Amino acid sequence: MPDYHRRSIEIIRAEQFDGAYAASMSFSQYGYSWLRDGAWIAHGMDAAGQADSARAFHQWAARTLLRYSGKVDALLDKLARGETLHESDYLPTRFELDGRIGQEDWPDFQLDGYGAWLWGLVQHVNKHDDRALWDEACPAVSLLVRYLAALWPSPNYDCWEEHRQQVHPATLAALYGGLTAVRTLAPELVPVGLPEAIRVFVLAHGVAADGHFMKFLGNANVDASLLWLALPYRLVEVDDPRFLKTLDKIEHDIHRAGGGVYRYRADTYFGGGEWLLLTLWLAWARLELGQVDEARRLVAWVESQAGPDGAMPEQVAGHLLAPEYYDQWVQKWGTSASPLLWSHGMYLWLTSLLKERSE
Ligand code: BGC
Repeated sequence: MPDYHRRSIEIIRAEQFDGAYAASMSFSQYGYSWLRDGAWIAHGMDAAGQADSARAFHQWAARTLLRYSGKVDALLDKLARGETLHESDYLPTRFELDGRIGQEDWPDFQLDGYGAWLWGLVQHVNKHDDRALWDEACPAVSLLVRYLAALWPSPNYDCWEEHRQQVHPATLAALYGGLTAVRTLAPELVPVGLPEAIRVFVLAHGVAADGHFMKFLGNANVDASLLWLALPYRLVEVDDPRFLKTLDKIEHDIHRAGGGVYRYRADTYFGGGEWLLLTLWLAWARLELGQVDEARRLVAWVESQAGPDGAMPEQVAGHLLAPEYYDQWVQKWGTSASPLLWSHGMYLWLTSLLKERSE
């Protein structure tokens, strides 16, 4: 059996370039760095004692974002003049590994990754008391806060890069988490009351009639990314009744008994497989609720899905929700991503939490 912990570190390091983490170099579409994935890969590496790797990522992200400060200023000017924004006015969701904006068409207007990065950066700075990194990153942080303050109520693609016209509680939770984290280090950067306004909005509009959080406003299904509302972004605590109801519904609707977690019931991407990183997220929730054995079972399932070389895929196809879609994705883009660095990052994070519990 491979040493999954060691392999995760090796795999992540092998696909880190000048700070940027590729999502998955071997998959045709993922040779880019996403802030959403990167924030979690860095968090996992930090938990595994690989602070230099995490720090290099945060430095890369900060300098990459600053390259586009003119773009943000132009967008804010347009908004101030009441002009209509175009898709190309927004910051992208992923960057080339050298920080350029890619030329390929992609559903770019997604805000959650920026919240994730702000949250992750603050965790790293606090863990290492790395004021030098914070000072270096502050101009980028300030830029993003201005960007998010202007755009948070706008519909934008969700974390799965879908549903451009909808407003997603998981995205808003990431913004809430990122902004509250920044406020602990630099209160002057965050407009007074902004995180609270986001929270109030989610609680007023993002809860279905029977009390669970919903995939997007007007769609009462669950999505596994709703776990983010508590973990880590703490828009509510894990024992909040609305979160517990969401968790029950996730278990019932999108967790295969004895197996992994799907993104959402209607998923057709690569036939809608079980996602390793989401299974680890569910393990995290179980752990927080004191259900350590269940958390261990979920982590063991993830390990059992790794390849012989320890590579952890994005998703596995053994029990697809929509098998009729599988072949067309493979024909379009080749087999789905493996290894996916985000899966490995989450694995490092969960195993560090489990280790803490057993000490
Ligand atoms: C997922 C995103 C992810 C990207 C890179 C997409 O398929 O929907 O959440 O950031 O892959 O891993």
